[in-house]
Amino acid sequence: MTDTAASDADSAIGRLAAHSIALITDLQTPEGAYPASPTFSAYVGYSWLRDGAFIADAASAAGRIDSASRFFAWCADVIARRADKIRWIVAETQAGRTPAAEHMLPARFTFAGEDGTDEWWDFQLDGYGTWLWALVQHLDRHGLDGDAYREAVALTIEYLLASWERPCYDWWEEHAQHVHVSTLACIVAGFDAVARVRLVDEGLTERVRAESIAIRRLIGGRGISDGHLIKWLGSTAVDGSLAAAIAPLGVTDARSDVGRRTIDVLESHLTVDGGTHRYLGDTFYGGGQWPLLTCFLGLAHLAAGDRDRAEELLDWAAGTANAALDLPEQVAGHLIAPGMRQEWIDRWGTVATPLLWSHAMFLRLGLALGRIDEADLTDGVDR
Ligand code: BGC
Repeated sequence: MTDTAASDADSAIGRLAAHSIALITDLQTPEGAYPASPTFSAYVGYSWLRDGAFIADAASAAGRIDSASRFFAWCADVIARRADKIRWIVAETQAGRTPAAEHMLPARFTFAGEDGTDEWWDFQLDGYGTWLWALVQHLDRHGLDGDAYREAVALTIEYLLASWERPCYDWWEEHAQHVHVSTLACIVAGFDAVARVRLVDEGLTERVRAESIAIRRLIGGRGISDGHLIKWLGSTAVDGSLAAAIAPLGVTDARSDVGRRTIDVLESHLTVDGGTHRYLGDTFYGGGQWPLLTCFLGLAHLAAGDRDRAEELLDWAAGTANAALDLPEQVAGHLIAPGMRQEWIDRWGTVATPLLWSHAMFLRLGLALGRIDEADLTDGVDR
């Protein structure tokens, strides 16, 4: 790239970064929730723990301490309000009467912290691990005290200790009959984070450490095929979400054989011209490429030491913004199942745009690469 082209690219990245953080903070609700997408039919009015935890992590990395803290306080409230239900789930599970999926905690909540009233593929465990991981990152990053979160953290840990071995819906709210490796990675990342900073009492910390070893053994055994992480236990395929296990979650070392091989396979099986698909066989909106997954893969490359590839992936993701600088959930430049696209448009309308999680992952990778300057995002802001 010439110097002029490089500086044009950087000012485009800067404008998109400013828009991204403004969207995230402006759309955060008074309760502290982050909407998944303000306009998309099936998502309106809901905040997901998964999306929200990664959005809060990006807000935290961008120096927006208050915004991230307000989201974590919202999570803590949502969970503390379900204390009785969590104790019931744990007791029933321990008594050998594992509750059916519809009695487990949901993946998404209304902004007021209620369960949704629409049918949804709700039993997903990953977000419960991810919010713990993101919370501890945030406390560490800004030297904050975690006391206010102790009750909700302990409840979340009890819930996950009782449930982590169960099959549940994955990041894409699909394939409920399987145990998903990226879900396990989110849970173990949360366990390790909480144990490291001793956010729960000694007895619980010991149980968390023991289960963390068990989960890591499972991932390192049945979670690997042909030398790389796999979509679910027993599968041979990959899923774009596995990049997160490498970075930012750091469950699989980026420079290990498994880390490197997983990145290679995510590139060769799922990444076309710089944009990453969810998985082979995806039909949602025709199975396009997801900017947020492209950024997760960029973070994995960066952790493995391939800065150039991480930069290319950031630029690809930035290039998916529309004229209003909004980033979509996915783009249609390369589709796995083109014949399925219209069916989803007829059902739910055009692809979710803006998707806050896409903006978050763009920010997170841009900040990690130093292509986005935290000072530019916090200038004049009361944090
Ligand atoms: C995706 C989920 C996401 C949700 C809200 C769904 O289509 O599969 O991963 O949490 O949208 O963004």
